[in-house]
Amino acid sequence: MFNYTDPHFYKSIFEAFMIITFASSKGGVGKSTTCAAVACALALGGARVLVIDLDQNRTLGRWSKRAAIDRLTVSAIATETFGTYFRDAEASGDYDHICIDLPGTREVTLFKALARSDLVIIPAQASEPDLREALVVVSDIRDVGETTNRKIPYRLLLTKIFPLRTGVTDYAYAELERKGMPLFRTALVERVAYREMFLNGQPPTIFEPGKGAGAEITALVNEIHAIAEQPESELRKAG
Ligand SMILES: Nc1ncnc2c1ncn2[C@@H]1O[C@H](COP(=O)(O)OP(=O)(O)O)[C@@H](O)[C@H]1O
Ligand SMILES: [Mg+2]
Repeated sequence: MFNYTDPHFYKSIFEAFMIITFASSKGGVGKSTTCAAVACALALGGARVLVIDLDQNRTLGRWSKRAAIDRLTVSAIATETFGTYFRDAEASGDYDHICIDLPGTREVTLFKALARSDLVIIPAQASEPDLREALVVVSDIRDVGETTNRKIPYRLLLTKIFPLRTGVTDYAYAELERKGMPLFRTALVERVAYREMFLNGQPPTIFEPGKGAGAEITALVNEIHAIAEQPESELRKAG
């Protein structure tokens, strides 16, 4: 279906300028990890990517000092400067995509970022409390969508799942289906490569290309692409 060994692969499929926000009202679910991995995959594929780190812990700001990836810019900024910073970045024409990494709290930057998003990715572990938190973000997305008079597409992403399918994972899938929650088919398994990324700076698509975490991130980026390609009306329905 896709060829992740072709360096031009992502570039060729990803024409639309996209603002992708990683959100959840819970910490430790994999927002920063997924944001960094996806941003790297896009940059490695040829896109100019800006990551805006809005978490005052500056997880990605620190990570970027270890990771030197061509075409990838990471900016950790103070929350109160977000509006101006974002407007300037968007208007500059310097970037093909902007990825926003949010803190795990419900604060004003969450709402500001949601309002500007073309896609919101909500990482959640396959557990009852995580799924409950994910629903809180979904209702925030709907609120912001109503206020700004547009539907904001979003998808849940199961993260840190056990490699073998367990009762917990089955529960999560059943619950999500029952609630009609849009979900990425790709789920991120609990893997060392995701932790290594913060130690050695290497994203999964470099650390283990085409397998394990690398293959997961490639599959995820392909799903994001499919969302970006949907006609406007379909995107709106997805929201
Ligand atoms: N799929 C995964 N497999 C293994 N470890 C992971 C995975 N996703 C995240 N982690 C680890 O879990 C911790 C929290 O992840 P992080 O991305 O910082 O979450 P958040 O940004 O939502 O707070 C980090 O130590 C990270 O390395
Ligand atoms: Mg984080």
